[in-house]
Amino acid sequence: MKRVFIGLVTGLLCFPVAQSRAATPDGKEVFERNCSVCHSVNPPSKSAPPILPISGRYHMQFSTKSAGVAAMAAFMKAPSKQKSVIEPEAITRFGLMPPMALGDAELTAVAGWVWDQGGSASGRGSGRGAGQGAGGCN
Ligand code: HEC
Repeated sequence: MKRVFIGLVTGLLCFPVAQSRAATPDGKEVFERNCSVCHSVNPPSKSAPPILPISGRYHMQFSTKSAGVAAMAAFMKAPSKQKSVIEPEAITRFGLMPPMALGDAELTAVAGWVWDQGGSASGRGSGRGAGQGAGGCN
């Protein structure tokens, strides 16, 4: 009886443990949780410009990923017209983006992911990510 109970508890614990395992935040996951309400990846746009053209603008403005990611993270923390590198009509059309209440690690991870979306000529990202999950529990 006792063993059955322990087995049950272990089974129940498995899910939260698998959820909190990630040490470095996954940029795509941060995006889906915090950004995809407003941003689509490809056109058509939702309530904000799609990520692909945004990423393209950052690639035009910054020659290295670290500079682009740093600028993007700084913008997300405290968006302003002065920090914006995309076309000014975007702010006129959609309004300024609200500040993101995320930690530096998450901001850097998601900015890196956004940067990578515009990095290849194919324009569709790396194709990774489908079917990745916590796994192991069912
Ligand atoms: C409530 C809606 C909303 C959410 C949530 C949101 N954004 Fe935005 N974002 C906008 C709007 C509107 C713009 C266009 C105006 C601007 O640039 O401020 C924008 C612009 C941007 C830009 C271009 C900045 C510039 O002007 O140079 C980047 C990069 C960006 N978003 C990334 C993100 C990321 C990454 C997340 C999630 C962590 C996110 N956004 C979440 C609304 C949103």
